[in-house]
Amino acid sequence: MLRIAVVGSGPSGVYTAQAVLDQQEALGVPVSVDVLDRLPCPYGLVRYGVAPDHEKIKSLQSTLRLVLERPGVRFLGNVPVGEGGVAPLELRSMYHAVVYCVGAARDRRLGIPGEDLAGSYSATDFVSWYSAHPDAVSHAFPLGGHAAVVIGVGNVAVDVARILARGADELRATDMPQGPLDALAVSEVREVHMVGRRGPSHAKFTTKELRELGTLPGADVVVHEDELAADPGYADPSALSSAARRNVAALRGWAHAPAGPRDRRIHLRFFLRPAEILDDGRGAVRGVRFERTALDADGRVVGTGEFTEIEAQLVLRSVGYRGVELPGLPFDPATGTVPHDQGRVLREGVPSPGEYVAGWIKRGPTGVIGTNRSCGKETARAVLADADALGRRPVVEADPLDALRGAGLAPVEWPGWLGIEEAETALGRTLSRGTVKIADWAGLLEAARRG
Ligand SMILES: Cc1cc2nc3c(=O)[nH]c(=O)nc-3n(C[C@H](O)[C@H](O)[C@H](O)COP(=O)(O)OP(=O)(O)OC[C@H]3O[C@@H](n4cnc5c(N)ncnc54)[C@H](O)[C@@H]3O)c2cc1C
Ligand SMILES: NC(=O)c1ccc[n+]([C@@H]2O[C@H](COP(=O)([O-])OP(=O)(O)OC[C@H]3O[C@@H](n4cnc5c(N)ncnc54)[C@H](OP(=O)(O)O)[C@@H]3O)[C@@H](O)[C@H]2O)c1
Repeated sequence: MLRIAVVGSGPSGVYTAQAVLDQQEALGVPVSVDVLDRLPCPYGLVRYGVAPDHEKIKSLQSTLRLVLERPGVRFLGNVPVGEGGVAPLELRSMYHAVVYCVGAARDRRLGIPGEDLAGSYSATDFVSWYSAHPDAVSHAFPLGGHAAVVIGVGNVAVDVARILARGADELRATDMPQGPLDALAVSEVREVHMVGRRGPSHAKFTTKELRELGTLPGADVVVHEDELAADPGYADPSALSSAARRNVAALRGWAHAPAGPRDRRIHLRFFLRPAEILDDGRGAVRGVRFERTALDADGRVVGTGEFTEIEAQLVLRSVGYRGVELPGLPFDPATGTVPHDQGRVLREGVPSPGEYVAGWIKRGPTGVIGTNRSCGKETARAVLADADALGRRPVVEADPLDALRGAGLAPVEWPGWLGIEEAETALGRTLSRGTVKIADWAGLLEAARRG
């Protein structure tokens, strides 16, 4: 029996567990898989990243659940690997193979003045707050100002702009925790500026997500046609990818639409590079100074030396995620990933026996949920191709669950997670809502204990 630990129960961890089980059935290699997570709840960013108003994508949790309920798989939550938990070296002594699927939890920095002013936050923190991540329960965002700037034009930027522009009434039916819902109910934010440093044909958002902005009942989309026209793909979209062409077409539609009457506005701005987050003189944000950019002869974006300011009391920096180094595991700081060859962790260029990676910590922080499926399959193939050698690796006899408890950890097993689900349904009932997420560690662990 090959004992495998998958560290991280997000899409890449669950898809890796699934692929290992599917492939072992074909190969006839008996395996058991423990899926560990530092949180008491499974599903990674599907629970703690995918926007609450995207119920259909959220419902992927029920597909991931089927894997975690399969015979041969065990979910062990509340097990941090690394700081405050079990070290990678210890884990290797308990399992024949360990697959790290720990994602990319941190935000990238802009490196401009004013980034740490009150009122300037990473989108990562804002998302964690409205998604009930227990590490974010004490976060608070100033929503009393009139305007917000979102820096970046990827899908996360679209998510946070949309959540700011939706009324709390539209979000009440979601599983958003009560604290953020109450805060959004009294939000004064009326103007949301989402700003890209390049042109519309280079924006990273996908068309479905972009178009959704035009369907919000309480918000209008505003674009500046001169900024669209600065992109050669606007006048002649024929050389663009089909995705960019669809984005440009959606933006063109808004440029030609009459001004809307709604209470809130989402401004989509382009060719503006953030230069400084501006101080109101009391250490809080009063706006963002941008340098206007243009395309040079080689199609690269360059500064023009012309600056403009957008007034805002809240700034959300949405410029991508970044992997976090796990002490005891190799890490490439340039890419924020673990060096690997087809999922095999490389130590000084050589595959390290029994150590693997999948998902964002392997590929970097891009790609949708489905991308992690093929990624997990590749890693599972590597694990099972190494099965003979892995089987010869000496591991301690004891059940890893006992060893983890012996190390002072209190793993939350599947019935504990079911207890959390039950408690969230009950909480929703008391608030006359559907399921409402529990947002704090104590509440989650108490619900798990009851389960
Ligand atoms: C805000 C946001 C919204 C998104 N929305 C969508 C969407 O609508 N549709 C879509 O297709 N894609 C979406 N994505 C992309 C998608 O979420 C990712 O492709 C996917 O989650 C990456 O999977 P992963 O398993 O590598 O990482 P994650 O989902 O981040 O999972 C990593 C897991 O590892 C655990 N972990 C981390 N460190 C440790 C440790 N030291 N010890 C133990 N456990 C640890 C974490 O708790 C987490 O559960 C979104 C991404 C973001 C950031
Ligand atoms: N609904 C969905 O399917 C969904 C929802 C959320 C997330 N996701 C996925 O999750 C992944 C991560 O999304 P993301 O939005 O965090 O990342 P992303 O797609 O990489 O977008 C990052 C954005 O930040 C900009 N940026 C980076 N550095 C900057 C700087 N120094 N100054 C100004 N702008 C800067 C980028 O512009 P440049 O292009 O110029 O670098 C880009 O617009 C993506 O693959 C995304 O598709 C999917």
